[in-house]
Amino acid sequence: MKVLVTGATGGLGRVVLPRLRADGFAVRATSRRPRTGAEAEWTVVDLATGAGLAEAVTGVEAVLHLASLPGGGRRTHQVDVLGTRRLAVAAGRAGVGHLLHVSIVGVDRVPFPYYRHKLAAERVIAEGLVPWSVLRATQFHPFLDRLLTMSGRLGPVIGDRALLVQPVDPGEVAARLSARLSAGPLGDIEEYGGPQVLRFDEAAYAWRAARGSRRPLLPVRLPGRLGRALRAGGLTTAATVTGSRTWADHLAATYGGTDRR
Ligand SMILES: NC(=O)c1ccc[n+]([C@@H]2O[C@H](COP(=O)([O-])OP(=O)(O)OC[C@H]3O[C@@H](n4cnc5c(N)ncnc54)[C@H](OP(=O)(O)O)[C@@H]3O)[C@@H](O)[C@H]2O)c1
Repeated sequence: MKVLVTGATGGLGRVVLPRLRADGFAVRATSRRPRTGAEAEWTVVDLATGAGLAEAVTGVEAVLHLASLPGGGRRTHQVDVLGTRRLAVAAGRAGVGHLLHVSIVGVDRVPFPYYRHKLAAERVIAEGLVPWSVLRATQFHPFLDRLLTMSGRLGPVIGDRALLVQPVDPGEVAARLSARLSAGPLGDIEEYGGPQVLRFDEAAYAWRAARGSRRPLLPVRLPGRLGRALRAGGLTTAATVTGSRTWADHLAATYGGTDRR
């Protein structure tokens, strides 16, 4: 089966391409910049304008839609909502049989501006211009890692200690996406998370220990609806099929026993 992957250069895209090839898919991949490489047949697409879309979707049986512009402003709307519509329209015209879209656990519960656009993109997909499926994933291990690094930039690691996270290995998300492509369009929204729900402070202490850091954790209490949603587990899922690689596995593989203060 030939699959077009949008957002193929992103954190998830980079692990999706080898997974799909190993599973026997022929892969065409998009980027806004011209690229070459044996990992896929590359094609230039800009979802913000629609440039390159018609050519990209021609001759593929499925589209795996990973491209996104995190943020929450007008540019996110242009790429995530209007760009997803442009993609669905082009794929519908080309007779694509399955549009598999990647979203985020909590887009329907957590009031981040970015999530409003992700939810709107899901709704575009579910209009059914192309037979569809949605996989909502929880935060990827490297994303939580970067977030902790950023929140610790000023010295202490700043965060709401009671916020709940369920980080997942992007390689396991890639494997799930590959299985969902093989299963075909089910017209459903599946949630997929990591094996453990952790409080932010548990995740942060483990991260600190893995890095050999003594930075203090500066607890803040996120106010309002956002804080309540995050503490109530808005970013976690009760879905029973989960990844098996833990946050501790990620930390051991990334930092080993070395001191990276
Ligand atoms: N990161 C997480 O923890 C997480 C968790 C759950 C779900 N997700 C979802 O998973 C998907 C992939 O996430 P990621 O972390 O891999 O994202 P990422 O690293 O930020 O990559 C985003 C991709 O989108 C592409 N893109 C941006 N603007 C574009 C435009 N105008 N036209 C075409 N392509 C454009 C970029 O491609 P070029 O720059 O090459 O054009 C890039 O490959 C996203 O939908 C995200 O919402 C992420």
